[in-house]
Amino acid sequence: MKEIASSDYSIWIGENSLSKLDVSGYSKIAILVDENTKRDCLHKLPKFNDFIIIEIKSGEEHKNITTCNFIWEELTNNHFERNSLLINLGGGVIGDMGGFCASTYKRGIDFIQIPTTLLAMVDASIGGKLGIDFNGLKNQIGLFNNPKSVLVNPKFLKTLHDNKLKSGFAEVVKHALISDNNLWEELTSTPFDILDWGAIILTSIQIKNNIILSDPFEKKNRKKLNFGHTFGHAIESYYLEKGTPILHGEAVYMGMILETELSPIPKEDKNEIKNYILSNFTLAHTPKKSNLLPFLMNDKKNVQGKINFSLLNEIGDCSIDNLFSINEL
Ligand code: GLY
Repeated sequence: MKEIASSDYSIWIGENSLSKLDVSGYSKIAILVDENTKRDCLHKLPKFNDFIIIEIKSGEEHKNITTCNFIWEELTNNHFERNSLLINLGGGVIGDMGGFCASTYKRGIDFIQIPTTLLAMVDASIGGKLGIDFNGLKNQIGLFNNPKSVLVNPKFLKTLHDNKLKSGFAEVVKHALISDNNLWEELTSTPFDILDWGAIILTSIQIKNNIILSDPFEKKNRKKLNFGHTFGHAIESYYLEKGTPILHGEAVYMGMILETELSPIPKEDKNEIKNYILSNFTLAHTPKKSNLLPFLMNDKKNVQGKINFSLLNEIGDCSIDNLFSINEL
């Protein structure tokens, strides 16, 4: 088991990481699950007494204030006090929304992230970004707040369908492209099916954690993590509004292809990135830019009406605050 120190909490990674689940001293404990993590993951937690289970429906379409109301009601009806703990057992939706509910319930109770998807392990559970979607816009309402700990057990990946694994892998690809050319070389020279997941997860979390430590509140360096996500979030929101949601990672792959096109890098590098993504992952149809404009114009990162992109300087390096007007896209 490896420990990565983040600002005021530890990320434990490995097949014994759940042994670091510390529930001592809390007056009440709840475990937030969806139907999948209740079935596949709950029984893998260490045994302890006196907890309640709060079950919500899986899927981005439930990451909203209605589900938060349900979670807050469960905590209230079960008389959860300030000295209570919420354990978020699931993917990005559970972690983001559970963390948001915990951080706002009675002005904040402790929470622990136990990510069960690759996306949540290498991205969503790290760095304290919490929130929900609002009026069709991704993560429009939220806050920064750190968990007590993050426990990453790669064994949970065995419970995932291939499409979910490949979706989460988009964040690994992003981490390589924005800051680690060696990781990119490894990814592009190793067939997906024989990747060393333990090592990949560790490297990916280290990359993200180093960026977070340098800029926890996304004033500068952390903006690099938005590579692929400006178009990506617009594409994801477009499909969500259409009533045919796609996975976050799928949208991010499409976003990375579009944002690679905007990046000032050689044509061969653009082709290498595009070919790698298209030959390894099945993607939905990329919407017309005109259909994405309403979402781009509402992007949280916009500055004076311009769309703010993080773009590649080269493979393994990224620049921030590249502003484009709608007409320049
Ligand atoms: N997922 C991007 C970030 O945590 O900043």
